[in-house]
Amino acid sequence: MKIRAAVLEEFGRPLEVQEIDLAEPKAGEVLVRLVACGVCHTDLYAASGADPSGYSPTVLGHEGAGVVEKIGEGVASLAPGDHVVTLFSPQCRECAHCLDSRTNLCLAIREQQNQGYLPDGTTRLSRDGEPIRHFMGTSTFAEYTVMPEIALAKIAPEAPLDHACVFACGLSTGIGAALNTAKVEPGSTCVVFGAGLVGLGAVAGCRLSGAWRIICVDPAEQRLELARGQGAHDTIGGGPDVVEQILEMTGGFGADYTFEATGRVDVMRQAVESARMGWGLATVCGVAGKGETLEVVPRFLITGRRVAGSSFGGVKGRDQVPQFVDRYLAGDIDVDPLISHTLSLDEVNRGFDLMHAQDGIRSVISFDS
Ligand code: CU
Ligand code: ZN
Repeated sequence: MKIRAAVLEEFGRPLEVQEIDLAEPKAGEVLVRLVACGVCHTDLYAASGADPSGYSPTVLGHEGAGVVEKIGEGVASLAPGDHVVTLFSPQCRECAHCLDSRTNLCLAIREQQNQGYLPDGTTRLSRDGEPIRHFMGTSTFAEYTVMPEIALAKIAPEAPLDHACVFACGLSTGIGAALNTAKVEPGSTCVVFGAGLVGLGAVAGCRLSGAWRIICVDPAEQRLELARGQGAHDTIGGGPDVVEQILEMTGGFGADYTFEATGRVDVMRQAVESARMGWGLATVCGVAGKGETLEVVPRFLITGRRVAGSSFGGVKGRDQVPQFVDRYLAGDIDVDPLISHTLSLDEVNRGFDLMHAQDGIRSVISFDS
């Protein structure tokens, strides 16, 4: 079928929205009609060419939500008409990692996905017979996509898809970091560094866990306002003396749980140093630049602090994303303020501009507009 999609032709150049071909879903695959898709830093990073493992041409986008149109042979968990959120982090439910409660890093299709192919090593995207590679196994800057069944989370049909799409990436990463990775206990003191979508998700996750006090650190007052909306009790601007500030605010000890959601290694270090002696846990959510290292003075560890990290918040996507969406529907998670702009597919590059300008938290492409 012919579809319109935003193609990354050349690194460092704007995406080009154009008509390309999408083949039928093969065995274990599903055709999804996208209704909405968030524009994320990871898309921008891939488009810039800064990612050494990047490739082109490819159709970017990985925060999709849509409706199942057609299923390939052997697909049992989904049917046409189902509402789904796309998962760049799949869940096969069969591999050693999927069977273990300690991780969400499914091993089923990693290699093919990283190289831009579907699990059978081929693409469904093409133009004039030339293959176009998939991005993150999702390629959701498009009217339709074909994805593996194991990379689609079936959500409640009453959830508006232009809101559900933010659970595909950053928001679930933050919530999951608090719930799955840190396992925040009720009554705790938490500090969240960074109030982008991941950080705001972590604030929400700490609140849902029953944290007694949540401190959010970010230089932008606008984002701190949003953090208060998600449940932060105290907000501070950060800077070089932020660790001292946090120690002062916590009786000299630091916080039970700290979360880093900036991708900056100097902030990761602050997260470790502002965790409490004895049992403080610093959870790293941000993705640092290639080759960067985290400096930790070992004394912080021997005195009982711990460092953890997780990808996609340790969320097993097919199981947990639908639960998060249910909590949103129940009114436990406020998604509205996180969506700052709604764009058409043709305006996708404007989504990147808004991100550069740090304007708002999320731009969402609406395919109906
Ligand atoms: Cu993302
Ligand atoms: Zn698996």
